[in-house]
Amino acid sequence: MIKLSKRLQKIADLVDMDSTVIDVGTDHGYVPNFLCSKGISKDIYATDISKNSLDKSIELTKELGNEKYIKNILANGILNEMRDNIIIAGLGGIQIAEIIFDAEDVCRNAKKLILQPMQKTFILRRELMDRGYEIFDEYIVFEDDRFFEILLVRFLGEKIEYTNKDIFISNILVKKKDEVYLECLKERKEILEDILNNFNSQNERAMERKSELEENLRYLSEAIDEISN
Ligand SMILES: C[S@@+](CC[C@H](N)C(=O)[O-])C[C@H]1O[C@@H](n2cnc3c(N)ncnc32)[C@H](O)[C@@H]1O
Repeated sequence: MIKLSKRLQKIADLVDMDSTVIDVGTDHGYVPNFLCSKGISKDIYATDISKNSLDKSIELTKELGNEKYIKNILANGILNEMRDNIIIAGLGGIQIAEIIFDAEDVCRNAKKLILQPMQKTFILRRELMDRGYEIFDEYIVFEDDRFFEILLVRFLGEKIEYTNKDIFISNILVKKKDEVYLECLKERKEILEDILNNFNSQNERAMERKSELEENLRYLSEAIDEISN
């Protein structure tokens, strides 16, 4: 049995029982093989744009005897095949958004997208809501000295209203009073305070940027207060 990292374990835990799955950018194929070995899904596409990466997944699939249930496919993004659950983990937020919007038919029909951006989560949030995708749940994992946000998403079909704060902060994790998220916010606040303390350019663009950062700092402080109280 595969022992998953904390981050990948959380992702695997969020997959629906008996669902059809695609893991985009699977690399080693850890999640598909785990899901298969646990009997969570027996119909999985494991895809990767890199042959080198996919070869690792093919190898693991063979080693565990899961070839009947996992199709390893060399592909850019999502295949044109309906899936219940779509996993895109370990890529940048902008890249994840591009992959989703290049395969809108499949994504709109999926029951659940499980997204774990490595950076630019705020851009991913904004793009999703602009295109009518609802972020209906969120998780955060701390591992190897860094925080990993996981978004659960589904297509709603209508534009979702949001404020700047809604894309910069996870309201869901704040409402859950998530202790790991609290630590993440504190870390982000410290970094932002540092940047602001060393901000010395005076030109107009720089001053605009400074006021954006001050606004973000306010959001962070409010969210920290909300979780702590
Ligand atoms: C950092 S690894 C993440 C692996 C795994 N998903 C995880 O979360 O641990 C990113 C993988 O995504 C693949 N990748 C990048 N862009 C892709 C795309 N457009 N379509 C499919 N795979 C892609 C890379 O080749 C690489 O194997």
